[in-house]
Amino acid sequence: MRVVVVGTGHVGLPTAATLAEFEHDVIGVDEDEEKIRGLQRGAIPFFEPGLAELVERGARRGRLRFSVDAAEAIQSAEVVFLCVGTPARESGDANLVAVERSARGIAPHLSLGVIVVKKSTVPAGTAQRLRQVLRMSRPDLAEDIEVVSNPEFLREGQAVEDSFHPDRILVGARSERGFETMRRLYEPLIRGGAKLIETDIETAELAKHASNAFLALKVSYANALARVCELAGADVTAVADVMGSDPRIGRAFLDAGLGWGGYCFPKDLQAFDRLSSRLGYDFGLLREVERINDEAIDAAVEKVRDALWNLEDKRIALLGLSFKPRTDDVRLSPALSLARRLIAEGAATVGYDPEAGANAKSEMPDLEVAPSVYDALDGAHCMVVCTDWDEFRSIDLPRAKELLAHPIIVDGRNMFDPHVMRAHGFVYYGTGRAALSEVG
Ligand code: UDX
Repeated sequence: MRVVVVGTGHVGLPTAATLAEFEHDVIGVDEDEEKIRGLQRGAIPFFEPGLAELVERGARRGRLRFSVDAAEAIQSAEVVFLCVGTPARESGDANLVAVERSARGIAPHLSLGVIVVKKSTVPAGTAQRLRQVLRMSRPDLAEDIEVVSNPEFLREGQAVEDSFHPDRILVGARSERGFETMRRLYEPLIRGGAKLIETDIETAELAKHASNAFLALKVSYANALARVCELAGADVTAVADVMGSDPRIGRAFLDAGLGWGGYCFPKDLQAFDRLSSRLGYDFGLLREVERINDEAIDAAVEKVRDALWNLEDKRIALLGLSFKPRTDDVRLSPALSLARRLIAEGAATVGYDPEAGANAKSEMPDLEVAPSVYDALDGAHCMVVCTDWDEFRSIDLPRAKELLAHPIIVDGRNMFDPHVMRAHGFVYYGTGRAALSEVG
């Protein structure tokens, strides 16, 4: 099918490249001409394992191209995906200006029979708004305008994997034509056994918010447990293992630590809370999920203070700056929230990240960024693990101990074994685990 993807970011680009892999003819468009020029040269504007190869393959096979001329692309399209950003407003509401702007941008060029697909995460009711905008702009198409909700469930760092092996394909539509078009579009996945869930549009939009909010709830539950475990002398990772052995609970997303961040959880949780309130339900649980997440940063600051006493003039090394491993994305990263707190208390912070150093530096110019783990550790009074990059599992501990002014580690992601660290002479602070120090 002839597909246009509007918005070539973390959602649009994997979507475009995957559909090209399924033998559709895909054109990616974006209002950022520089981004389009880069993509035409094969430059991917963010780190996402496997995506560059997939884009290159689609381009080489003539199935995927990028254009700044949205009009020409859309005129011949059978399906137009809207994959534009929905950042959070100050109020917490989803900012849907880009969604409306992109709808108004495509409206004049839509041809009869086209299906408009909403892929970005949006509050329930957005597709209805979109349909109104499109019908007002194109009274000639009126009843023929079909807007479909197809929320993405891509995880950053695993977007390609999730595109080819989705847990489910969720489609919200109002007509058989809408469902039929999406079945054709995702036919290779469906043939491969992917679960297709077809429902009404509001259900599809809301189910996405509900899913992300629940995942954030699991993480915050683990972090609340961590607080209790520290007081009870229990080990939260072992508690999580016990809980996770029950298939009704599941082990994933029970890893206590510095908490959740990124472009999705924070804004989706807030948008879901605001949507609920606007509809008339006070979903207080969501705000508690957020409060516990903020508390995880406080807990880490208190561990650093416990280890170092006054933070003024202390040098603290932060290992990991991205909001999670295998991404260079630092948006709402817990690591940067912690860095801001430590800098505000007068500490010098130096960070290292395998991929996100440059993004962190542009986000926080007063954060020193080191080129390697060992450069970050050199002369630091303690090291804090903020993001569980695999690279950190093989740190040369004797060398780290030599470089550090004090052999102190605050393990914000419970990456290290407390007993191994103690055997190497470290003072170990875990999250929800017994603090182990040489002084007993
Ligand atoms: C999430 C959803 O998983 C995905 O389905 C949706 O499409 C987009 O939002 P993503 O934001 O890429 O994906 O990150 P995810 O892997 O879900 O992790 C979110 C945050 O939770 C990260 O900061 C991660 O470090 C943190 N996390 C995750 C924990 O702190 N503990 C855990 O056990 C799991």
